[in-house]
Amino acid sequence: MSKYKIAWMPGDGIGNDVMEAAKIVLDAMNFDAEYVPADIGWEFWCSEGDALPQRTLDILSGVDAALFGAITSKPKEEAQAELAPELQDKGLVYASPIVRLRQHFNLRTNLRPCKAYAGNPLNFRDDLDLVVFRENTEDLYVGVEYHPVPESLNEELKKHPRWARFADTPLEDMAISLRVNTRAGCRNIITDAFEYAKKHGYKTVTVVEKPNVVRETSGLMVRTAREVAQNYPGIDLWETNIDAMAMWLVKNPQNYGVLVATNLFGDIVSDLCAQLVGGLGFASSGNIGDDLAVFEPTHGSAPKYAGQYKTNPTAMLLTVKLMLDWLGEGEAAIRLEQAVAKTIAAGEVRTYDMGGTSTTLELAEAVAANLGD
Ligand code: IPM
Ligand code: MG
Repeated sequence: MSKYKIAWMPGDGIGNDVMEAAKIVLDAMNFDAEYVPADIGWEFWCSEGDALPQRTLDILSGVDAALFGAITSKPKEEAQAELAPELQDKGLVYASPIVRLRQHFNLRTNLRPCKAYAGNPLNFRDDLDLVVFRENTEDLYVGVEYHPVPESLNEELKKHPRWARFADTPLEDMAISLRVNTRAGCRNIITDAFEYAKKHGYKTVTVVEKPNVVRETSGLMVRTAREVAQNYPGIDLWETNIDAMAMWLVKNPQNYGVLVATNLFGDIVSDLCAQLVGGLGFASSGNIGDDLAVFEPTHGSAPKYAGQYKTNPTAMLLTVKLMLDWLGEGEAAIRLEQAVAKTIAAGEVRTYDMGGTSTTLELAEAVAANLGD
């Protein structure tokens, strides 16, 4: 029997290309795992009206971790139009399967390291080592949305003094998306960020919010951060508004270490951080819960490149590194990261984004060759 059981979910578009790259490296490391293929993605939405079928949830309940390639998400009308004709009238509504996965298995922490590896020509600067902690199940992602606004909700909202300006807006001309954050959600992600900072020697944790305007939700996050920070005397808590943060990250990114944010702000700021270290081809991520973790590169499915093996697999290989870490395979994780770093530094095998002509799988082979003994 293998030591680990890993759900294997290529998903959409280039997901398959980068998962093949992952397999090359895992095999080269003799990683002792059974890989269980699991269906997820756009084709299952189109053909059966569910991008995350129950059988996949069942598989995920019985594995140690999951590796996930990429997902296609489209807005409501497009999703509806691509549904199989016989499913059109069944009232099915598309919901992003990765967002559902995060919520279903309470994968509450999204860990997104963004490190500038020496020799990467795409680095914005070479001295960057940022790590984004993104709350992963709450906030504007809860999916409690209304359009049109129900009469009963409108009645309740009329009690709010600031609602008066909408009194004359027809209910069908209004849309409401709820931002919901809990104290526990805030405390957990902030604690994870501080624990990581402590373990890895970061001097600061920056909470990225907007409490000057979004007083209750962002306010809860910042107030909770101040409480949690008390337990970590050697680490400074910095508070920065999301808009200013976007500016500071372009101006002085080297000043920052660990960042922590609610779900949507974390989503935005993690793409910005990714670009500082070479773009989405270098951005790994882990969706981490207490019992399960699903690892996926931050990039999307880039359908136009699907099957062309052009995509830079580095994001996926660093994602595998995060998975190894989480499984407790620390030495293997370090070995893999060093092989990635060595390959980047050598600069001989580069995908198109880095100005090279190598394929996805050639880069993975190069990393495998650099694993050493
Ligand atoms: C990400 C992606 C997802 C998100 C999409 C694909 C739903 O942008 O993982 O950052 O918004 O969380
Ligand atoms: Mg995103």
